Amino acid sequence: KATDVADRRGRFLRDLRLSIIDRCNLRCQYCLPKELFGEDFHFRRIDELLSYEQLARIVDGFVSFGVEKVRLTGGEPLLRPGLDGFIAQLRAAHPTIDLALTTNGLRLEAMASALHEAGLDRVNISLDALDAAVAERMAGRAFSPQRVLLAAEAAREAGLGVKLNAVIKRGVNESEILPLARASFERGFSLRYIEYMDVGTTNGWRREDVMSGAEIREQLRELGELEPLPAKVFGEVARRYRYVGTDVEVGFIESVSAPFCGSCTRARVSAEGELFTCLFASKGVDLKPLLASEEDIGPMLRNLWLHRDDQYSETRTAHPHGAGSSNAPEEMWRLG
Ligand code: GTP
Ligand code: 5AD
Ligand code: SF4
Ligand code: SF4
Repeated sequence: KATDVADRRGRFLRDLRLSIIDRCNLRCQYCLPKELFGEDFHFRRIDELLSYEQLARIVDGFVSFGVEKVRLTGGEPLLRPGLDGFIAQLRAAHPTIDLALTTNGLRLEAMASALHEAGLDRVNISLDALDAAVAERMAGRAFSPQRVLLAAEAAREAGLGVKLNAVIKRGVNESEILPLARASFERGFSLRYIEYMDVGTTNGWRREDVMSGAEIREQLRELGELEPLPAKVFGEVARRYRYVGTDVEVGFIESVSAPFCGSCTRARVSAEGELFTCLFASKGVDLKPLLASEEDIGPMLRNLWLHRDDQYSETRTAHPHGAGSSNAPEEMWRLG
């Protein structure tokens, strides 16, 4: 069966991360550092990206292949006009898939209801600091962390599932670990701390800047005892815990200190139509010719997945990549 194709490590394809735009209205220092990507940096114009029709065909192809979870990403996906219509189209075609979106939350408050009505199930919202100055340092631009929290509440009220994501960089927003935990706990939001990763080639990643999940858990002891929870779904990236005696969860995405490639069921498609089987891949497969020819993407996908042996996070110590290397990896704001 099409849905039973395992890659070389026995992993099935179950999640699609679909980038719908490369543009972003923030300049997070670990993703789009403002020193390299100024105000006038040229992202792709909308007409250079795949159309919603083409994106929907990609989703159809992946769903026939066993994908059950589709996450829309960017850049910042809420910057693409017509998003609610696209979501409604996906929902109509695939009533039971888990349909999620990752956003920086800046435009979420006004859009949350429409997104939920269109058929979106949940949002993951990035928020790296509550202190405005620290938030600006992380995000490269001034914005109000309080408004992002309000947007998270609006999203929850609209009926969306909500999780918060915080990337922690040592010495930059380390001081925000506890404030973020408290604010999320008080509001009942599940927060995931993300280890700073060496994605792309422009963020100047250094191992010393990574705060490990274990170090963060150590700090959280101040708030109470944490008990580990069993994984809910196979291939989940976060290790989940619960504050003892409550139903509030906190998660840790430890792709540096405890990689999870063994259960990685994800593929990514960029907004320009390039398919990648790993976040750290340096080259993808261009889907545009297939889309232009009206051909089914199934056979290509099968062949690609059968040969997949990606496991970068588990081998990075032995083979770190770096800027200027012959196989420079793609940037996360393009990959999604
Ligand atoms: P859920 O379905 O809510 O668990 O979503 P998610 O955590 O997979 O998605 P999200 O966009 O919120 O990503 C959170 C963090 O996990 C980001 O920093 C991602 O880069 C990281 N992450 C997600 N998938 C992968 C992956 O395949 N490999 C690695 N190394 N990191 C990943
Ligand atoms: N390391 C860890 N997480 C990153 N993200 C973007 N770049 C990096 C990086 N270098 C996170 C964003 C968002 C999620 C989709 O990926 O903060 O929460
Ligand atoms: Fe934009 Fe997200 Fe990258 Fe920050 S991490 S610059 S919000 S795409
Ligand atoms: Fe999957 Fe690649 Fe991330 Fe490993 S490094 S979990 S193979 S995307």
